Amino acid sequence: MTKFSEGTATSEGPVSPRFGRDELARFAAASLTALGAPAQTAAAVGASLVLSNLVGHDSHGIIRLVQYSEWIADGQIRPTASPTVRRQQRGTVVIDGNWGFGQLAAQMAVDVLIAAAAENGVAAVTIGQCNHVGRLGEYVTALADHGLAGLAFCNSGPAVAPFGGAGRALGTNPFAWASPGGPDGPIVADFSTAAVAEGKLKLAFADGLKVAEGLIVDSSGQPSKDPGDFYAGGALLTFGGHKGSAMSVLIELLGGLLTGMGTSCSPGYAGGNGTVLIAMDVGAFVTLDRYQDEAARFREELVTVGRGAAPGPVLLPGEVEARAKLERLHNGIPVSLGVLDGIYGVTDPLGVPQPTPLAARADATGPKEPTR
Ligand SMILES: NC(=O)c1ccc[n+]([C@@H]2O[C@H](COP(=O)([O-])OP(=O)(O)OC[C@H]3O[C@@H](n4cnc5c(N)ncnc54)[C@H](O)[C@@H]3O)[C@@H](O)[C@H]2O)c1
Repeated sequence: MTKFSEGTATSEGPVSPRFGRDELARFAAASLTALGAPAQTAAAVGASLVLSNLVGHDSHGIIRLVQYSEWIADGQIRPTASPTVRRQQRGTVVIDGNWGFGQLAAQMAVDVLIAAAAENGVAAVTIGQCNHVGRLGEYVTALADHGLAGLAFCNSGPAVAPFGGAGRALGTNPFAWASPGGPDGPIVADFSTAAVAEGKLKLAFADGLKVAEGLIVDSSGQPSKDPGDFYAGGALLTFGGHKGSAMSVLIELLGGLLTGMGTSCSPGYAGGNGTVLIAMDVGAFVTLDRYQDEAARFREELVTVGRGAAPGPVLLPGEVEARAKLERLHNGIPVSLGVLDGIYGVTDPLGVPQPTPLAARADATGPKEPTR
């Protein structure tokens, strides 16, 4: 994973207790239920957050319970709302998130796309009135698991300066795409067009860490390494200079305008993720088996190309997450004490029992949770 912060108390540091996936999912669901979500919604959203932790994207894991509690309190998230299909014409589908949890709308979009792409070859879904959908990789991976090439992008609240600018005019606007990849599973690229996802800044801020240079500017547009400067009115920068900025502008336009949610710096923008998902049925263009074989061969060609100057081996997009998943299924999911404190500040007053770390459970009840 990209190294973006400096210091010792990272979410993977020695002080971080580790939790079994099921224990964290139970805790996340209980917390969301206590915040007003129906049981099925709480279970689905809780599982989605914990899946982010499991694949190593702690920025989109249970730390979000804090933000979601605030959004429920101020009416941004309606915890009992469900998404609905507003309109469907062949391969185009319009989903209304109805300002419920964005994960529910995005998961519905995946189901709808799998059926629509099977029928039409290509299908696209827009989601309006859509709250935070979390980690886009979850949705495109599910599409690729069904033999589809999946694309997803969304705009989000203004936090990023356009290339050459100083103030917040773009969202962190992530983009993800995934391809069937042969027997080793989908190849998945999924990242923010900001130099760092805002959630990762939030983690660094929670843990009192500095961030690397070139990620943020303070409120006067000066480079900074202090995440506090971002939260005091500064801005994130885009990745790759003008290239990330250009991509982000297109995501604002398509994500914001095709969903009716608007571009994030415009008057009337109400927050959330203007989300677009697209699926292409590989079998509508070439034979899926042949595509999978050639993708597997391409994987092999990439990883045997020889070592360059960058540290570590050549990795396929999605491989970091697959490795994190294996490791965390085996050893448990680390959550830093700073992050836990923030979450318990919300869940303790609601009477939600804290999750039990693996070591404590091993002391008390025997072996760790089995790995799956
Ligand atoms: N919903 C929202 O509003 C929102 C906004 C921003 C980001 N996000 C999510 O945040 C998550 C994290 O985004 P990020 O920008 O921090 O991601 P990141 O910088 O960690 O990049 C992750 C991507 O890079 C790939 N990768 C990592 N190391 C690699 C290597 N050595 N070789 C090849 N590929 C490699 C990973 O497999 C993955 O596809 C994403 O899941 C994104 O969807 C969501």
